[in-house]
Amino acid sequence: MSLKFALNDGTRIPWLGFGTGTALYSRDAAASVKAAIEAGVSHLDGAQMYGNEDSLGQGIKDSRIARDKVYITTKLVESPADTIKNTLKTSLKKLGVDYVDLFLIHTPVTALKEGKLKQWWKEMEEIKKEGLSKSIGVSNFTVENLQLVLEEATVIPAVNQIELHPYVWDTASHIYDFCKEKGIVIESFGALSPIFRASGGPIDPVLASAAERLTKESGSPVSPGQVLFKWLIQKGVVAVTTSSKVSRIKESLATASLPDLTSEEISAIETEGSKWHKRFFGKRIYNEA
Ligand SMILES: NC(=O)c1ccc[n+]([C@@H]2O[C@H](COP(=O)([O-])OP(=O)(O)OC[C@H]3O[C@@H](n4cnc5c(N)ncnc54)[C@H](OP(=O)(O)O)[C@@H]3O)[C@@H](O)[C@H]2O)c1
Repeated sequence: MSLKFALNDGTRIPWLGFGTGTALYSRDAAASVKAAIEAGVSHLDGAQMYGNEDSLGQGIKDSRIARDKVYITTKLVESPADTIKNTLKTSLKKLGVDYVDLFLIHTPVTALKEGKLKQWWKEMEEIKKEGLSKSIGVSNFTVENLQLVLEEATVIPAVNQIELHPYVWDTASHIYDFCKEKGIVIESFGALSPIFRASGGPIDPVLASAAERLTKESGSPVSPGQVLFKWLIQKGVVAVTTSSKVSRIKESLATASLPDLTSEEISAIETEGSKWHKRFFGKRIYNEA
């Protein structure tokens, strides 16, 4: 039984999602999605902005997985040209499904600029009521953005998908704490950044020694990437990642059954991680140059 986290609306989300942005952005994702599902992935993360929802749907269809065995997310384009509901209906057609499991406001930027964030959220609540998406949530939201939504929300966002890895922990931890208090699950993207977008930093030795200990304890090789995923799992955070390599997808999925990190290892990841600040996505949302 694969690991899932409970959401505040009674549904459950698989801890690892396979993303069709970044490496697959604007590209045909069908073969990669099919390969990921065959490797054991049951959670796919798409977005209107990625320009490939049709191929995400095709990959799911090609895999022949039953609809109720796969968890599908899509996200509202930054500046919708139609009503939010109509954009989702277009997405459903492209994906070839009657509903998605999770629909997210991809970024708050346009809604904030137009003073429409609360109105957008009302439309999201309608979408959930109509069953076009089982769960609704947000992405790239700061605490202030969430507070604004919560002022009038009748449905609390189920998730907030944000860039989360140790090199943004200095600024992201207060979003994590706020979401935890409100029952909003954090989804992480960019989790592997300390390994290949910002290698040579202060957490390298921490990841290496935890990987070495877990390798000895589990009797099979554990990688620094798995240590990062384990850190997320133990914090109750969903990991949205991607890979062109089936072996790496399988390795990532296997993280759930590894022994736990110790509390000392977790605090070393957070203390050493906070010594560097490296954000790779959405700098304008966080007012960073
Ligand atoms: N909501 C948002 O605004 C937002 C923003 C960004 C991303 N996302 C979502 O999150 C998904 C994943 O994002 P991400 O790409 O940033 O995830 P990530 O988990 O940080 O990175 C995945 C990438 O890491 C590479 N990688 C893994 N281990 C490596 C290693 N040891 N050495 C070198 N490269 C390595 C993989 O390449 P290989 O192919 O070689 O394995 C893959 O391209 C996206 O597809 C999208 O669905 C959402």
